[in-house]
Amino acid sequence: MPAPDEIREEARSLREFLNYHAYRYYVLDQPEISDAEYDRALRRLEEIEAEYPELVTPDSPTQRVGGKPLPQFETVNHELPMLSLDDAFDVRQVREWFGRVRRLLGLGPEGQVELVVEPKVDGLAISLLYEDGVLTRGATRGDGFTGEDVTANVRTIRSIPLRIPPGDGPEPPPLLEVRGEVYLSLEAFERLNERRAQRGEPVFANPRNAAAGSVRQLDPQITARRPLAFLAYGVGRVEGVTLRSQWEALRLVEKMGLPVSGDARLFATIEAALEYCTNWMSRREELPFEADGMVLKVNDFELQDRLGVVGRAPRWAIALKFPPREEVTRLIDIGVNVGRTGVVTPYAVLEPVNIGGVVVKQATLHNEDYVRSRDIRIGDFVTVARAGDVIPQVIGPIISRRTGEEKPFVMPSRCPSCGEPLTRLPDEAATYCTNSACPAQLARLLEHFASRGAMDIEGLGEKVAQQLVRAGLVQDVGDLYSLTEEKLLRLEGFAEKRARGLLAAIESSKQRPFWRVLTALGIRRVGTVVAQALAEHFGSIDRLARASEGEIEAVHGMGPHTAAAVRGWFSQESNRRVVEKLRLAGVRLSQAGQAPREGPLAGLSFVLTGRLPDLSRAEASRLIAEAGGKVTESVSSHTDYLVVGEDPGSKLDRARELGVSIIDQAGLRRLLRVEGDSG
Ligand code: IVH
Repeated sequence: MPAPDEIREEARSLREFLNYHAYRYYVLDQPEISDAEYDRALRRLEEIEAEYPELVTPDSPTQRVGGKPLPQFETVNHELPMLSLDDAFDVRQVREWFGRVRRLLGLGPEGQVELVVEPKVDGLAISLLYEDGVLTRGATRGDGFTGEDVTANVRTIRSIPLRIPPGDGPEPPPLLEVRGEVYLSLEAFERLNERRAQRGEPVFANPRNAAAGSVRQLDPQITARRPLAFLAYGVGRVEGVTLRSQWEALRLVEKMGLPVSGDARLFATIEAALEYCTNWMSRREELPFEADGMVLKVNDFELQDRLGVVGRAPRWAIALKFPPREEVTRLIDIGVNVGRTGVVTPYAVLEPVNIGGVVVKQATLHNEDYVRSRDIRIGDFVTVARAGDVIPQVIGPIISRRTGEEKPFVMPSRCPSCGEPLTRLPDEAATYCTNSACPAQLARLLEHFASRGAMDIEGLGEKVAQQLVRAGLVQDVGDLYSLTEEKLLRLEGFAEKRARGLLAAIESSKQRPFWRVLTALGIRRVGTVVAQALAEHFGSIDRLARASEGEIEAVHGMGPHTAAAVRGWFSQESNRRVVEKLRLAGVRLSQAGQAPREGPLAGLSFVLTGRLPDLSRAEASRLIAEAGGKVTESVSSHTDYLVVGEDPGSKLDRARELGVSIIDQAGLRRLLRVEGDSG
């Protein structure tokens, strides 16, 4: 049976809704709706598509999950070769390059040309082909002339639009080849490695290897699970529009809904461009991804053509490299750390070494197998790498510098903190201390509980957490709420003022929303995203505590391991006692009573249906969200207004049934005007 019109319309509007919100989330980094809301809409679309497969379109957000594995990659010819960049290692070399640019263009010694400066992201170069606005091919750079067809993998990257979104801007050109870098943010890289280490899988040496390895997977389902991102830095083939400069190209690509670095700048002189570059050299740590330098490009395409290419590198661009963040130093000893979930991790004690401006004394060794498989021994000279804020890691030993005195590492058999025997499960790489009263674990848990993403208790860091545990002032996180000034004064370094400050911080943590409390408890596999979904779904800790594994798994995004971890946590008597202590203290254990969103439409919930005369859906959603309102996908008794356009779907009937207020675009505008700005 063909799909009825209103289902067809619902699918179309869900696609538009999901694509728009994915753009807000992944490209602009300004989400307007919660993950749970996004998931709900995605599930509804999946349902419809399962029933009416003819409604599946190539740009449907459901098509990102990854297709079938490929036997091998097809090769792709790059009609315009994908070039590489010459490197400069200091400012003087950039000036020399610019001197050549001046000479070749016949400019005098003071002559200037406009330059674009961009960060050089360390990932994998990719070419994306858009035909009439639809992504038809993604290819690696390969040798610059032929690359590999990785379309199926590229489609799984959320910040790459499958179709250029219809917007208020120009129509997409008939042919547009966007070039840029696929990369992993530093945060994603660290998370990925942590997870791999726990599972006993090999870790990646740096974000670039991780990105390249993920894109060059024959099984797109694996790629889909890696949190890859994309940043466009230029164009290849373009038909239907005339672009005159790099800056114009970047602006066009940005208008087409692709991510472009917000740190790209246009300069009139080489001096200004260089000042910007050197400034970034000292602010490199602020970039959320690994960058290995800054790229300077002659802006004007006509001048680029006149300068031309030698070998594989254009004469119109140069990369000013940052110093490398890898050094060799001596591994003095190997210690072990006990984490909040009891995982025992080996770490390297290093002869202090300056790596890219930061003195490193310790580095992670991930797990026992990592140390063994890389044959890292105490006394070795080792390569140590760091990327941004990511914990430095030991890459491997320099075998040629061995003296024969080096000692292999042996994992201790007892917990260094509590002395209980350690266990290692047969199919896991991690070694655990299973003693729930282990003081090291408790100190870590307190630290986590108080951390910024959790209960955000200022003044409760690593050191204070250890002091509290050592002094026997807390047995679990619930005890934080029965601390008194008198008790705190017993701790070294605590006078009245500091004690009061900490107590005030603990007191104000009672106001944190429920999902933050869930995050803070330190349940395995429950980070902020999972905590938010659980909080939204179950609404209170009591309902969550009563839920079966099956019910938890039924919440979108939960796997069986997460469900088991949550269930396991609540089944422990000691944890249930913690919940009671938190309840008595007045910590928020349910969703109710959360601060409303700000803005004139705060607290109001809208649903859109049909085509509005001159507002796109995305526009209307944005206006409502900016005014503090919420746009949801389906009409329910919680809906305040249904905004109706031409050809409304079944939502209109539903709204009538439920007695929801029905308004048109003019009505929406009035609401925004009356309750919103004065214009
Ligand atoms: S332009 C004109 N711009 O660096 C030369 N490349 O060594 C073509 N890269 O293969 C590249 N950020 O993978 C350019 N802002 C940027 C870049 C960038 C990273 C990579 C890219 C390229 C390699 C060249």
